[in-house]
Amino acid sequence: MTDETLSNLLHEERRFPPDPAFAGAALAQPELYQQAQADRLAFWDEQARALDWTTEWTQTLDWSNAPFAKWFVGGTLNVAYNCVDRHVDAGNGERVALHFEGEPGDTRSITYAQLQREVSKAANALLGLGVEAGDRVAIYLPMIPEAVISMLACARIGAAHSVVFGGFSAEALRSRIDDADAKVVITSDGGYRRGNPSALKPAVDAAVVNTPSVKKVLVVQRTKQDVAWDDSRDVWWHDVVDSAEDVHQPQAFDAENPLFILYTSGTTGKPKGILHTSGGYLTQAAYTHRNVFDLRPEKDIYWCTADIGWVTGHSYIVYGPLANGATQVIYEGTPDTPHKGRFWEIIQKYKVTQLYTAPTAIRTFMKWGDDIPAQYDLSSLRVLGSVGEPINPEAWIWYRKHIGGDQAPIVDTWWQTETGAIMISPLPGVTTAKPGSAQVALPGIGIDVVDDAMKPVPNGSGGYLVLTEPWPSMLRGIWGDPERFKETYWSRFEGLYFAGDGAKKDEDGDIWLLGRVDDVMNVSGHRLSTTEIESALVSHPKVAEAAVVGASDETTGQAVCAFVILRGDAGYDESQSEAVIAELRNHVAKEIGPIAKPRQVMVVNELPKTRSGKIMRRLLQDVAENRTVGDVTTLADSTVMDLIKKGLRAG
Ligand code: WT7
Repeated sequence: MTDETLSNLLHEERRFPPDPAFAGAALAQPELYQQAQADRLAFWDEQARALDWTTEWTQTLDWSNAPFAKWFVGGTLNVAYNCVDRHVDAGNGERVALHFEGEPGDTRSITYAQLQREVSKAANALLGLGVEAGDRVAIYLPMIPEAVISMLACARIGAAHSVVFGGFSAEALRSRIDDADAKVVITSDGGYRRGNPSALKPAVDAAVVNTPSVKKVLVVQRTKQDVAWDDSRDVWWHDVVDSAEDVHQPQAFDAENPLFILYTSGTTGKPKGILHTSGGYLTQAAYTHRNVFDLRPEKDIYWCTADIGWVTGHSYIVYGPLANGATQVIYEGTPDTPHKGRFWEIIQKYKVTQLYTAPTAIRTFMKWGDDIPAQYDLSSLRVLGSVGEPINPEAWIWYRKHIGGDQAPIVDTWWQTETGAIMISPLPGVTTAKPGSAQVALPGIGIDVVDDAMKPVPNGSGGYLVLTEPWPSMLRGIWGDPERFKETYWSRFEGLYFAGDGAKKDEDGDIWLLGRVDDVMNVSGHRLSTTEIESALVSHPKVAEAAVVGASDETTGQAVCAFVILRGDAGYDESQSEAVIAELRNHVAKEIGPIAKPRQVMVVNELPKTRSGKIMRRLLQDVAENRTVGDVTTLADSTVMDLIKKGLRAG
């Protein structure tokens, strides 16, 4: 973020007090803050009691082995029972859990009673394939009901799932399956993407060649495209799940039983397997979902547009909403298929009441024009959510005006894969909103902004965002790497969780997020590591060295910009530059996935390095963002930046 945008942000003075009618009837009342303040652990105890426990816990939080937390010690529960069966037992079996909207227009509505049978069948089928409590199952699926059913089936039998986003490459999938030692992979022939079937199984076929842990691949038939088949390994969902017994007796597991691993990019090349467990995670996912979205399960139709491959899909499609007995929409495809009004058409059709989406999508809709949403009846919407990156005030205002009918409160929710659930957000009906600011920690959550010396900054100043108290849905570690967990999050500031984000407190003490302060980029709300893309680039035979930066981008927030030095023996001359650039962009897409494909690849002869050999990405970012290059005095060779710029102009 440039100084100019920062100062624009902090001069944002528009205020949106809650509508009195909404405020009066809101689920979350201001007392929630006082209640949490008075006794934080008692507050979380009370939130946990909204779930159905088989055994009561004996201790709310065990922090004696910090930073390794245990919440609700000794408590046992079944997560899937909480998300499905208990709603049936409470007499709500006929309530729709999922309204599925396929990209080609096919639809399925699944009630809680049906979901109970589907999840039970899938749980029985997984047991039949040899999956046991404590095992890992990889899930590589499009946004279809089977994705939700698979996750719940794992939870039901006490196996941890590791969902890998369908846009990731075979290699990314392989390394994640391998790291987690997954026994089974659940995938499909493909899914629909921009009007066409897009294959998934070939990536699984390629990945599992080198993953000895995988015994079975369970395949959902979605697109009916041709698939290669290995009889000893592959089984069809419609064979083994459809024929399985539709009753399964859920067993209670420890509150700290692993629920899932979700890989996310860090500052090194190797993705981190973020580990979440059961009782605390579900408590906070459900509590935040209810209060932040003012959820009324009896009448609301909630829609989160994320993919289950990201943490937003885990916490705010699967676990939070289903634990709360919500009715929700899930959509398979892209917002512009078959036309740019698809989202608004879905909202009108199902009378969606809460929409949870990302700033990058909102900016895209702005670009497409106000006239598109104006053609649909969006009056059912009563709360709008934003997640994934800072939302700029203009996008916020547009969202409120053109989607929210100038009245729906917007909740700008800050959190991370690691936090498991929302940490900072306004509460609808309570908070006077400021466009562009996530504002306040939720009741029960402790945050601060500190300087380099770990001192809380005064109002009006910026620093690093930290979390000051353990929270129920916090990550319990990095899969297989406890040292990296301590090092990454707990070593920078003793006793505080360092989130990796810069933030500022305004004059009222409200929080404005300013983006990452480490080598992590945020492209369309997806986290990408500069180092991971750099290693993908140098794995190409033509590349000698690479440096990657995130440059600001109007639509995607940041975009991947790569600077590469080609090898002397690459036989490169200027006339081939376009072909080489295309080759390198495709190479990154193949190694990591299309989301990581650089927007720009610039061939250079030098990279700016400090005397100790560290690449100064900040200077490259200046070039990528067309700014005057900053301070070069710490470079080993201060003329390098001139050479780079001259070379680029000539090229
Ligand atoms: C990073 C976490 C949380 C689910 C989606 C992303 C950025 C997220 C906001 C927000 C400003 C935000 C942060 C954070 N971020 N939400 N409302 N305002 N920044 O999860 O991939 O784990 O990324 O996304 O930089 O650290 P993730």
